[in-house]
Amino acid sequence: MSIDAPAVLGEPIPRLEGRQKVTGEALYAYEYRADEVLYAWPVQSTIVTGRILRLHTDVVLAMTGVVEVLTHLNAPKLADGDDGELLVLQSDRVAYRGQVVALVLATSIDTAREAAAALDVDYQNDGLDVELSAEHPKLYAPEEVNAGFATDSEQGYVDAAFATAAFTTDEVYTTPALFNNPMEPHATLAAFDGERLDVRDSSQGTSSVQQTLSTMFGLDPANVRVRSEHVGGGFGSKGSPRPNVILAVMAARVTGRPVKIAYTRQMMFALAGYRTPTISHVRLAANADGRLTAISHQSYTQTSTIQEFAEQVAEPSRHLYAAPNRLMTHRLAALDVPTPRWMRAPGEAPGVYALESAMDDLATVSGIDPVELRIANEPDVDPESGTAFSSRNLVGCLRRGAELFGWAERDPRLGIRRDGRFLVGTGVAAGMYPAMTSASGARVRALPGGRYELGVNATDIGQGARTVMAQIAADALGVPVSAISVDLADSTLPKGPVAGGSSGTASWGWAVTKACERLRSELAAGAPVPPEGYEVEVETSVDVDAMAPLARFAFGAHFVEARVDLDSGEVTMPRMLGVFAAGRILNARTARSQFLGGMTMGLSMALHERGELDAVLGDYANHDLATYHVAANADVRDLRVEWLEEEDRQLAPMGGKGIGEIGIVGTAAAVASAVRHATGVKVRDLPIQPDRLIGQLPPRFL
Ligand code: MOS
Repeated sequence: MSIDAPAVLGEPIPRLEGRQKVTGEALYAYEYRADEVLYAWPVQSTIVTGRILRLHTDVVLAMTGVVEVLTHLNAPKLADGDDGELLVLQSDRVAYRGQVVALVLATSIDTAREAAAALDVDYQNDGLDVELSAEHPKLYAPEEVNAGFATDSEQGYVDAAFATAAFTTDEVYTTPALFNNPMEPHATLAAFDGERLDVRDSSQGTSSVQQTLSTMFGLDPANVRVRSEHVGGGFGSKGSPRPNVILAVMAARVTGRPVKIAYTRQMMFALAGYRTPTISHVRLAANADGRLTAISHQSYTQTSTIQEFAEQVAEPSRHLYAAPNRLMTHRLAALDVPTPRWMRAPGEAPGVYALESAMDDLATVSGIDPVELRIANEPDVDPESGTAFSSRNLVGCLRRGAELFGWAERDPRLGIRRDGRFLVGTGVAAGMYPAMTSASGARVRALPGGRYELGVNATDIGQGARTVMAQIAADALGVPVSAISVDLADSTLPKGPVAGGSSGTASWGWAVTKACERLRSELAAGAPVPPEGYEVEVETSVDVDAMAPLARFAFGAHFVEARVDLDSGEVTMPRMLGVFAAGRILNARTARSQFLGGMTMGLSMALHERGELDAVLGDYANHDLATYHVAANADVRDLRVEWLEEEDRQLAPMGGKGIGEIGIVGTAAAVASAVRHATGVKVRDLPIQPDRLIGQLPPRFL
């Protein structure tokens, strides 16, 4: 697909910066050069909670090449930027193991690392409280949960519905702490020129970093420039500023020199934000034909003692299926742990795993086919708000998936299919993710000769934003993509929202469409194009505010085949199929990658990923990629992605729903369903590692 072809939304145009990336020409935050740069290396606490009594900085400052050691005793005071995790080096208090207690600045990266390792710190050790349970005495109801959703909601009488139900399930489903591991670790280069601050940050949104830095350091936002031209992934961990950017700016301020910092992979596990472990108690009641009469989802998660983060685990259960009696609750315990934060589909990934596993349990106890059970519970309107859906094609996804996967030939009996030393089974689960849009600015300039410069503060974290924004602009202007150049990820551009919540494309793209349509009509009306160009700039708050009050979600259905090794208990998936309904697909190539990536992360969540809490040490013991296994090529076999043609006129003008997160939602429930079909063993504690199954499988030789 050539970028010189007439612009068409949906065409599988390759990433515009693809060549720069594979040739190494594309620069990431840490790769920019700066004269007189200093290298920063954080020192992390080795206790869980307590006080810093003494930092032996004199020894470190005497090392050749060490320029400064920042601690709570000499670091600049920061204003509160609404995230306690960012208030680094502000007190002698330690709130979790791995928290930053000092920052070494040196003239080479090796010296910085060596000096950081050489810094001795004396602590008062106050003990630890790090283990989440549904009975933890510190559990409380937060005022609201992530993204502003209600903590609790209740309708009807769940317990009464259980008394008269034909079928019920009542089980607890858990997911472990999961860690964001984008290819590029968090990194920052910060430099002051007088009062002007210039920052290169590996971030999902420069406007939000700029705003936080201005607030916390008391700077005029006009003097703060943040750029994130190329970003090697984030999954939500770069959706808000992390300590790295605060530390770099702090050090640049103190030393008057440019400062670079990059997390090591090990640091990522404490300092990037991770998915809280989740405990979901799900109870379902249904009548004889499988229609749900009650849905109850009570969730338990953790936060830290320095910042509240409440993952909205039970929120998706308010929207996926209807029932006259419903109860969804969130309880949270503030433990001595790093603050959990966003990780691809916070809320939906663990919440839908629990709900859809419960639906699979209900299918098993009722004997109703799991696809038909879901279709029987398809709601007419959003069960929570009572409003209509803008579009809802879950049934279409399930039917299309069943057809492609050959579901009709499936024998529902459990644990009876053998192929050599493997037990074989298939499973299904549904997924959904909200389709959100927020206000964004954009500007576009027509240049003489038919070229156009687009400026939109989108961030391309690998998902293809640069390419899709160019496609949207080309489409709106009626020109080839090759006529467009794109400026993005720069806080000096019109303000734009983060690449998060699967809302970036809709939000930025709406502003791009509006700017390009306005430019096109002004040019058509005879506006002159002077040598410096003719520019329009727009903003979309009025448009977004005027959206009809509808329930907007993307939907998906996952079908998987699992093979379970009778000797080792290892699960592999020879076939995975995801069918999605996400509105209009704007670039078939990058969209397919997004769905594949989400499903792969779902596979990884289902089978491999688990933070192993060492309750004595008070930390996750496997904090590196040698011991925390993320799905690799060999784990992924035949992965297939399909999408439905969906016409939804109640979205942003391009007609697409976000696709960054829907791929991970429901995958793990489908895997657990397939493993039970294969073995007869239902695993309700992720991940389904071999020890979950071994000892429960039949002998290999009968
Ligand atoms: Mo995503 S967790 O909303 O960046």
